[in-house]
Amino acid sequence: MSLEKLNRSLVQEVEALKAEGRAKAPERIIVGYLPPRNGRGPRYQLRGSNLEFLRMNSNSYLSLSNHPELIKAADEATHRFGVGPGAVRFIDGTFSYHAELEERIARFVNKPAAKIFNSAYTANLAVALTINNAGTYWIGDELNHNCIIRAMRISNVPRENRAIYKHNNMEELKNCLNNIPPGMERIVVIFDGIFSMRGDCAPLNEIVKLTEPLTERFKEGVITVVDDSHGIGAYGDSGRGTEEFTGAKADVLVGTFGKAFGVNGGFIAGSEELIEAVRQKADTYIYTNPLSVADCAAAIKAIEIAGGAEGRERLRHLKARTGQFRNGLAALGRESIPGPHPVVPLLVRDTARTRQLVQHLFQKGILVIGLTFPVVPRGDETIRFQINAAHTESDIDEVLEALSGFKA
Ligand SMILES: Cc1ncc(COP(=O)(O)O)c(C=O)c1O
Repeated sequence: MSLEKLNRSLVQEVEALKAEGRAKAPERIIVGYLPPRNGRGPRYQLRGSNLEFLRMNSNSYLSLSNHPELIKAADEATHRFGVGPGAVRFIDGTFSYHAELEERIARFVNKPAAKIFNSAYTANLAVALTINNAGTYWIGDELNHNCIIRAMRISNVPRENRAIYKHNNMEELKNCLNNIPPGMERIVVIFDGIFSMRGDCAPLNEIVKLTEPLTERFKEGVITVVDDSHGIGAYGDSGRGTEEFTGAKADVLVGTFGKAFGVNGGFIAGSEELIEAVRQKADTYIYTNPLSVADCAAAIKAIEIAGGAEGRERLRHLKARTGQFRNGLAALGRESIPGPHPVVPLLVRDTARTRQLVQHLFQKGILVIGLTFPVVPRGDETIRFQINAAHTESDIDEVLEALSGFKA
C-alpha cells in the first residue's frame, strides 16, 4: 500500500486552503532564549535569522515560563516520579501532583472542585461530553473559541439543540433564551470570558442576570459555562479573571495553565457532582494520559506565585505596560478595542496593510500575529499584540517606535 493517491488529494486540499488565504504560514522555530538584561525583557532567536526577537504574541501573560521556582519544581517532581505517567488516570496514572493541582486550582478560582486536562481545548470538549444529552440546549456567543464549537460537534449536538447570539449582544441572548424549543430540560449558556482575538470581556454579570430567573422554568435549570482561558491569572484585581472583573459567578469555569500561568494543561472547575461526572463520562479525561508531574508541579508553583505578593506585583506591572501600550497606540492615532486586558488588538482594516505591517515589525525584531481576510471578515483585519509581565517600559517603547515608522 502507498499513500500516493491520498497524498495527491491532500495536496489539493492544502492548495485550496492556500488559495482561499486560510493556510497557516510555515512555522518559525525558536532556537534560543535570551534572559532579560539591561532594561530589556527576554528575547528569542529564530532558526535562519540573526535578529533577537521580542515576543508580542505570547499568552504567557505573567511571564512565569522561565521562572526559576517553576523550573525547580518541575525538576524535583521529575526526579521523584519520572517524566511520564505510564497510564491514564484511572489505571494508576494519578500521582500526588495531579491531585494537588486539582485542589490548588479549585481553591484559586473559588469553586468546590476541579479536574485537570492536557489542555483547555480538551477540557471544553469534556464539558460537552459530560453534560450533553437529548434534552440539552446550548446557547453560545458567535465568537466562541474553536474548541467550544468543536465540543458541540464531538458531542453530536443537533442543529435544533443550539443557538448562537451576536458577540456580547444581550438582547440576542435574551431572544435565544425566549425561543428555546419545547422539550428542552437542561439549558447551557457557554461563552469565552475574554475573547482571545479582541481582548474584550463577556458581560458575565448581565448573562447571569438573564439566566438566573429562568432556572425554575427548566427541569434541570439554566447553567452558565465560561471558558476564561485568557482571563484566569491575567485579569481582575487579583487575577481571578472574568468572574472577579464582572463581580458575578459562572456555574462552570474552564481555564488553562498554558497562558497566564506559563505552563501547560487545562481544567474544569465546578461542583463536586459535576467533577465526578466529568471523571466518569468525559472521554478526553478518561482515555488519554494526564499531564506529566513536571507540568503539574510547575503549575502548582505558578498558582502559588500568582496568588501571592509576587503575583500581585507582576499583575501590577502587566497592567502598567498594557496601559503604556494602549496609550501609545492612541497617541499614534491607531485604532484598538478598549479595555484593560493585555490582549491589545490593532485594527488595520485591510489585508495587504496588515501583512505589510506584520512583516515590517518582523524586520524590526518584533513577533506578532496578523488576522486577515477570510479568517476575519473584510474590514476587521487586525494585528494582535499581547503584553507580558516580562516586557519592560523600553520594550513597549521599542514596539511603539517600530509602529510609528510604518508609513505604508
Ligand atoms: C478561549 C480559549 N479556550 C481554549 C484555548 C485552548 O487552550 P489550551 O492551549 O490550553 O488548549 C484557547 C487558546 O487559544 C482559548 O483562547
